[in-house]
Amino acid sequence: MSETTTAPVTPLLRFPEGFRWGVATAAFQIEGHTTADGRGQSIWDTFAATPGKVLNGDGGDPACEHYVRYREDVALIKSLGLTDYRFSIAWPRIQPTGSGPANEAGLDFYDRLVDELLGAGINPVATLYHWDLPQALEDAGGWTNRETSYRFAEYAEIMARRLGDRVRDWSTLNEPWCSAYLGYVNGHHAPGRTEPLAGLQAVHHLMLGHGLAVRAIRDSVPAQASPRISVVLNLAQVDPVGEGDEEAVRKVDGLSNRVFLGPLFHGGYPEDVKDDTAHLTDWSFVQDGDEKIIASPLDWLGINYYTTTRVRVLEDAEAPTPGPLPGLRGVEQLPAREPLTGIGWEQDPSGLVRLLTRVSRDCPELPLFVTENGAAFPDTVAEDGSIDDIERLAYYDAHLRAAHEAIEQGVNLRGYFAWSLMDNYEWAFGYSQRFGLTHVDYETQTRTVKRSGHWYSRVARAGGIVP
Ligand code: NOJ
Repeated sequence: MSETTTAPVTPLLRFPEGFRWGVATAAFQIEGHTTADGRGQSIWDTFAATPGKVLNGDGGDPACEHYVRYREDVALIKSLGLTDYRFSIAWPRIQPTGSGPANEAGLDFYDRLVDELLGAGINPVATLYHWDLPQALEDAGGWTNRETSYRFAEYAEIMARRLGDRVRDWSTLNEPWCSAYLGYVNGHHAPGRTEPLAGLQAVHHLMLGHGLAVRAIRDSVPAQASPRISVVLNLAQVDPVGEGDEEAVRKVDGLSNRVFLGPLFHGGYPEDVKDDTAHLTDWSFVQDGDEKIIASPLDWLGINYYTTTRVRVLEDAEAPTPGPLPGLRGVEQLPAREPLTGIGWEQDPSGLVRLLTRVSRDCPELPLFVTENGAAFPDTVAEDGSIDDIERLAYYDAHLRAAHEAIEQGVNLRGYFAWSLMDNYEWAFGYSQRFGLTHVDYETQTRTVKRSGHWYSRVARAGGIVP
């Protein structure tokens, strides 16, 4: 009997009624066909084509050729018995140069994708920005330029008008931490700039763009639709190494988490973060009224969780801390501890409980979703074609148990999205890291559900962790 059998199973750990079970992807990581139908160039096309930036020089083609295989992929999600699909829209398909009239062919693609999902009974959860900024906007300064925030809101309006009659769940940004800090501070991601001040400007313009987009969506969706709008943050679970390291936690938590949570939910950027970065900027890029826009009410918050970090104070409080956090001083981040995933990240399921309970204490009313969680491991395809990815399965099992524990502790967690539906383009790691519940053979584009995918499917169907 196949593992995807629909025979009823009794969960060992049952999640609440109505809990959403999803998978996530992002446009640049799966679509391929990067020059089709008038798509413009994005910063990731440019970055990937720059020698030395991405492992093996891998680019956005072929990826999973989802642009032409989306029907097969929706059928796959349906076959797994999942309730929700989180995907992103490629801004350069909609506005090839980041402003001006919409490209009808690009809009059509997402129209067809959404209709396919709805036809399959899957709820679409659309992210507007998952890192593929139109290159033309970067040429004008990218996220360091306040204008980009306004362009983003215009693009959000175009999408809300087009899909707002069918898409209820929207996320403005995915992981602005990465866009700002990996893109502008350590240069590991597109556009590959290494300017700490630019990183802080990018944080603010991303957040301003977010707030403007929230308003644009609410103003533009058809009257009968009631959108549920969110932002997706990769909040860091920061733990002290020992007693006396709280100051290190405060600094890292400030630049990693509170710099986003502050203006979103607590009235503005935290004063201590401004103080910690005063040697870089006086934050005069924040204009009157901006924080009010950023605080536009949200319907839910998405949290991406993979790993944790331990920090301690350095004796020299002025010593610059290497890494992507702009202007951070006097802190040391400890190396990851075993067990690691294939990409080298520490596995710490209990960190998810700590993070969810903390956010839930911070924002008690807000529905939370784990919008990404998963692990890369080097998979082996057996002779019969099967993939027995027991380590990935164990990672999911442990993290779902942690999510359940958080719910038991009172966290208002409404759903969970595995990253990812299928193996895909892992940014600076190219195609070398596989995060999928489904294996992708990039030569033949064959999709094969891994053991972890069959297991997750049974969990979703049963509404809880199964034997
Ligand atoms: C976060 C990002 O949103 C996603 O694009 C990426 O592939 C995963 N984490 C794994 O690194």
